[in-house]
Amino acid sequence: MKDKLQRIKEEAFKQIQDSDALEKLNEVRVAFLGKKGELTAVLKSMKDVAPEDKPMVGQLVNDTRQAIEALLEETKSKLEKAALQLKLQNEGIDVTLPAKKEQLGHRHPNTIALEEVERIFIGMGYEVVEGPEIENNYYNFDALNIPDNHPAKDEQDTFYINSDMVLRTATSPVQVREMEKGKLPIRMIAPGRVFRSDEVDATHSPSFHQVEGLVIDKNITFADLKGTLAEFAKELFGPDTKVKFRPHYFPFTEPSAELDVSCYKCGGKGCRFCKGEGWIEILGCGMVHPNVLRMSGIDPDEYSGFAFGMGLERIALLKYEIDDMRLLYENDYRFLKQF
Ligand code: DAH
Repeated sequence: MKDKLQRIKEEAFKQIQDSDALEKLNEVRVAFLGKKGELTAVLKSMKDVAPEDKPMVGQLVNDTRQAIEALLEETKSKLEKAALQLKLQNEGIDVTLPAKKEQLGHRHPNTIALEEVERIFIGMGYEVVEGPEIENNYYNFDALNIPDNHPAKDEQDTFYINSDMVLRTATSPVQVREMEKGKLPIRMIAPGRVFRSDEVDATHSPSFHQVEGLVIDKNITFADLKGTLAEFAKELFGPDTKVKFRPHYFPFTEPSAELDVSCYKCGGKGCRFCKGEGWIEILGCGMVHPNVLRMSGIDPDEYSGFAFGMGLERIALLKYEIDDMRLLYENDYRFLKQF
């Protein structure tokens, strides 16, 4: 029995040492230690051993098994290491090459300007709301008191999707959607993208952004409009900023005005920046037309309000002294990272 075990051990060791792959090693394990393995057979024949020899033989079988298992384990980890080494070699990474540096993005000047505008109006108790970029004729034109013969309705100026749907030409339709909700008073701004069929140049783009504003409550007067927008201009362009309201016409407001701010570069004396004017136009505004209120279900005898609309790019160009609007759309990191 002793000899037999010795032979099994020697044979197992030899086969293990000859194994050059993990699969082969496993075959050896099965051949000796498996259910039908050689050592297992010896274990099964233990019943024929004389009772007084059993402890000694049992010990021997165990020792043999442990020796084989130990060598199997050791060889297995050697083979695994060798396989990993080979894999690493084949992947061949050249660690001396310079690393690729990830470039972090940068907030867009439009975004920075919008956050500034939002900060100012939120500070005055306004809510920020949004509306759809695709509108129907009612919200984009009719509900804003824009008559059929108005040039804005012209296919030359507006992107029509079909006879009733347009890419909104202003953020003003969001006013209507907000008024229709029937929750008064209203104090809101609505930033968003708008579309006009314009050629691209230094001051025009077929897609740009506006921020609309609307206040509706009892006893709102033109004085509220002036005070609010004067305060806004000071916050945006500095405490010495003066404002000038020039009479204008919009179908959805009456009376209407355009707001000019004193040039923050020259303080109003006139310079290259304000083209010698001393003033820079920044937005349109006015008292909401009674027709507009009525169409959205608000009684103009009980409520009144003011509205305004500004081009966001215009604000960004002025504030950051950018002289060509196209730069805002090129997404050139070298340009964007300056702001
Ligand atoms: N909708 C106007 C435009 O696109 C901007 C505007 C002017 C909005 C006066 C208003 C407003 O709400 O009262 O040019």
